[in-house]
Amino acid sequence: MIKFLGACSQVLSVYIYLMPKIIFNTHDNKTHTVDIQNGLTVMEGAVQNDIPGIDADCGGGMACATCHVYVDEDWFQKLPQKDDGEEDMLDMAFEPKKNSRLSCQIIVSDELDGLVVNIPSKQS
Ligand code: FES
Repeated sequence: MIKFLGACSQVLSVYIYLMPKIIFNTHDNKTHTVDIQNGLTVMEGAVQNDIPGIDADCGGGMACATCHVYVDEDWFQKLPQKDDGEEDMLDMAFEPKKNSRLSCQIIVSDELDGLVVNIPSKQS
């Protein structure tokens, strides 16, 4: 039994090690690096890890903009395009910029390992 639990622990360690890391920079100059499972959204990973400034009031329904982030310039072009609904909601976000995205619309994948997002100061 102990051997089995040890093996499970090793498998879990490898699984967590292989999950994409997403980096959140908060307004207070703190950096939070979290492992987020493929298929979840960046917003879901933030909420699960208690990242300050991502309230996600609508639960990912693209109806609140409380998951607004500024995507690091190096990463912005690598993300899938925004659809019209996201663009409309970002117009209502606090100080949208050209690199603004709703984190509930960014689906985590291996290709996004190392993605850096900055949380607007208003959402602190
Ligand atoms: S969680 Fe509400 S728009 Fe993203």
